This record gives sequence, C-alpha cells and structure tokens, in this order.
Amino acid sequence: MEQQSWTELPNGVRSAVESVTGPVLETEDITTWHGSTAFVAVLTTGTGKVFVKGAPSTDTEAAEQRRRETLVAPLVTRFAAPLIAHVAEDGWILLLFGHVKGGNADLSPGSIDLGYLAATLRDVQQVRPPHGFALPPLADQWTEYLTGDQRSLLSGNHLVHNDLVPSNVMLRQAGYTRQVVLVDWGRAVLGPAWAEYAGLYMWLLFSGHTPEAARAWLGQFPAWRMASRAGIRAYVAGATAECANSPEHAARWATLLDQ
Ligand SMILES: Nc1ncnc2c1ncn2[C@@H]1O[C@H](COP(=O)(O)OP(=O)(O)OP(=O)(O)O)[C@@H](O)[C@H]1O
Ligand SMILES: [Mg+2]
Repeated sequence: MEQQSWTELPNGVRSAVESVTGPVLETEDITTWHGSTAFVAVLTTGTGKVFVKGAPSTDTEAAEQRRRETLVAPLVTRFAAPLIAHVAEDGWILLLFGHVKGGNADLSPGSIDLGYLAATLRDVQQVRPPHGFALPPLADQWTEYLTGDQRSLLSGNHLVHNDLVPSNVMLRQAGYTRQVVLVDWGRAVLGPAWAEYAGLYMWLLFSGHTPEAARAWLGQFPAWRMASRAGIRAYVAGATAECANSPEHAARWATLLDQ
C-alpha cells in the first residue's frame, strides 16, 4: 500500500490520536526499509514528539505486526521505545511510541555500535516470555519450505526480534554513553536464542563484514557457540528458500555454514 501522510488519514483517526497526544503541530513522514506500513510518521505536539505507525485494519499482515508489537511491549521496556497507546478508529490500527532521538546503528566492521548492540542482545536473551505467550514460533514462517524435523530444530522459548536490519537498531545518547533501542518488533517470534544471531548474520554481511569476520563476531555469544549445526542448517534452509529469487542472497546465507 502506498504510504500516506497525516492529513490523508480519516478525521476520526486523527482526532483519536490527538486525544492521546494533544494537538499535532508538525508532522514528518518517515520512509521505511520495507515500505510496507501505510502510515509512519513523527508527530510534534505541545509536549514533544511521538512516533506513530499503522495501517488500515484490512491489511491483515500489518494488523498482525501491530499485534506482536503490542504483545511484546511490556517485556522489552529496557531496550525498546515505550508504547504509549494503541488506536483503533475508522478502520485504522495505529501504535504510538515514545520518540527515540537518535539515529540508526552503524554495523560496519570496527563500529563502536557493534559493542552496544552485543550488550543489548545479551539483555534480550534474559527476557523470559510467560508460558503460552501468543507469539508464533520461528519455524511457522517457513512451514512451506521445511520438513517437520527441520522445524523442530528451530523450536525454543526465547523472544527473538527476528528483523535486526540496521534501520530497526537505533542508538540514542544516554548521559555519557550510548544506548541501543530496538524498534519494530512486528516480526518477533519465539525460537532458540541463537536464531537472533543467525538472522543478524545477513545484516553484518550487508554492513561490510566478510563472512569470516561476521562469524567470528557471532562467536562471542555463548548461545551461538552452543547452537547445533543441524539447527543452523535448518535456519539457513528456511532463510534461503525465502529468497529463492535472489541467488546472490542464497549464496550469502550458505556462507554461514562454512567453517
Ligand atoms: N520510536 C521511534 N522514534 C523515532 N524513530 C523511530 C522510532 N521507531 C522507529 N523509528 C524509525 O522509523 C523507521 C521505521 O519504523 P519501523 O521500522 O517501526 O516501521 P516499519 O513500517 O515496520 O518499517 P519497515 O517497513 O522498515 O519494517 C525505523 O527504521 C527507525 O529509523
Ligand atoms: Mg523497520
């Protein structure tokens, strides 16, 4: 769906947002990586800025993403933007988040952001979703590509962000240090802790790491070192099948299995 700006939203949606934020004084549309969310903007109000994202409720994929973001929000307060409100009005579903003043992470070799990200990922691993937590298992996203045995190798009870593209990793100044804020939990799943690092591998390559350097970086995480080879192979099979139309992408995934 084409991206919309604030004034294009139905009146009822805008009033519902303003009933939370107060009058909107300025708006800035945000261009996103996937470009799949109909409305993404930073709104300036009398009391500061708010980040808003959403889509018509008929967009079932977007609705599922908002559901996961809402569900996960209370578990990730230490390292995510705070969820301020959920607005469902006039056929739209929007989430309002506290605005993160900062930029996207630089994950290129030697960047200091990598160290901050590593610390935050260790923190993510400490989250223990309650029994019956309604996130889908990682393996569900590859049901059509993987056998039952492969899927069972991807089972686990850890919270996995599952979309650590650098645009979803933000950094803000916190006193004298910098702090990672992981945004966009819309693709979050339950899985083994190591799956987060497997997913990050591709973004390390995209950010300029050689496969050797990226694998060495992942080696700092005990959960990654303990992952079974069969499990990683199943992950690579799923990720590769998903990008079957891009042989280049598939070739990159294959290097995760090199020694
Ligand atoms: N709370 C926030 N404060 C400020 N900027 C934010 C906030 N959350 C996200 N952003 C910025 O806006 C961009 C888009 O947000 P987000 O990723 O949540 O939207 P999305 O529609 O899911 O994007 P995509 O289609 O790329 O997955 C992010 O890449 C990030 O740079
Ligand atoms: Mg995003």
